[in-house]
Amino acid sequence: MENKITSLFGIKYPIIAGGMVWCSGWRLAAAVSNAGGLGLIGAGSMHPDTLREHIRKCKAATDKPFGVNVPMLYPDLEEIMQIIVDEKVPIVFTSAGNPKTWTNHLQGHGIKVAHVIASSKFAMKCEEAGVDAIVAEGFEAGGHNGREETTTMVLIPQIKKVLTKTPLIAAGGIGTGNTMLAAMALGAEGVQIGSRFAITEESSASDEFKKLCVGLKEGDTMLSLKKLSPTRLVKNEFYQKVQEAEDRGASADEIREILGRRRSKKGIFEGDLVEGELEIGQITSLIDDIPSVGEVMKNIIAEFNDSAKRLGGLNL
Ligand SMILES: Cc1cc2nc3c(=O)[nH]c(=O)nc-3n(C[C@H](O)[C@H](O)[C@H](O)COP(=O)(O)O)c2cc1C
Repeated sequence: MENKITSLFGIKYPIIAGGMVWCSGWRLAAAVSNAGGLGLIGAGSMHPDTLREHIRKCKAATDKPFGVNVPMLYPDLEEIMQIIVDEKVPIVFTSAGNPKTWTNHLQGHGIKVAHVIASSKFAMKCEEAGVDAIVAEGFEAGGHNGREETTTMVLIPQIKKVLTKTPLIAAGGIGTGNTMLAAMALGAEGVQIGSRFAITEESSASDEFKKLCVGLKEGDTMLSLKKLSPTRLVKNEFYQKVQEAEDRGASADEIREILGRRRSKKGIFEGDLVEGELEIGQITSLIDDIPSVGEVMKNIIAEFNDSAKRLGGLNL
């Protein structure tokens, strides 16, 4: 398939592995890029030196394009952006911040920039900032989420209506060929997939976390931490603690204290399923295996093509 997203990033399939804290190291990013998608290293959980090491290992593991995701809510931003420029990373996906802050600077160094948002208002800000592509992430998604709780099904056509030129990538609840096809029917030109790639052999998440995710059913994840930054989490003991505090009207400061530091590392990377912050999306209820990235890509492409053929014959 060739479209605006494949030609923008120089990839074979318009499938992006979203940057994910504690999951998206060089192994996952390189595997996705080698399989014809776009792999992103998740800088959100890396010290600057660790990021540099992952970029170098990724370059050694693939000759295909790859990128770095930079959530703008973490420290060391200046240093991280300098490393990205110095290491000549061709693509950056920024998130959790203002698209105006870094887009021009990065583009000035020949870097393609996509920005992640969850509402039409911010999509328009991205277009004003001149980003090369926009990722619109619906409420189903794992990780940090929009306050408006708009589902991917509604968000994509809404955003399509307000954009005049920027190509759109859909995220949230996508992890199969059929969900990808649905997103493209709604007007997206590519998809960003998180949870499905978090639960693969190459993801750097702990085995405990991956195995737990495979067993999750409908309703086992919920949006939490709404007073801080809304995040979709598995309903474990830590989630219940936050929920109780939110229900009795605890202040943002109190919830920040309950969250403490390095909660997501504890949960996702170290496998503490009780006290850890377990970020994952609704689509886990459809996931029942821990395959390689190659297998995931093969299955998505096969299902996408079969369904596209089947639907091609539909007529009302
Ligand atoms: C464990 C986990 C960690 C994530 N960390 C980040 C992150 O650091 N930066 C970011 O922009 N998005 C992050 N996300 C969101 C993903 O990049 C992606 O947009 C989202 O997972 C897509 O929805 P899906 O989970 O339904 O596929 C994370 C998602 C998960 C599941």
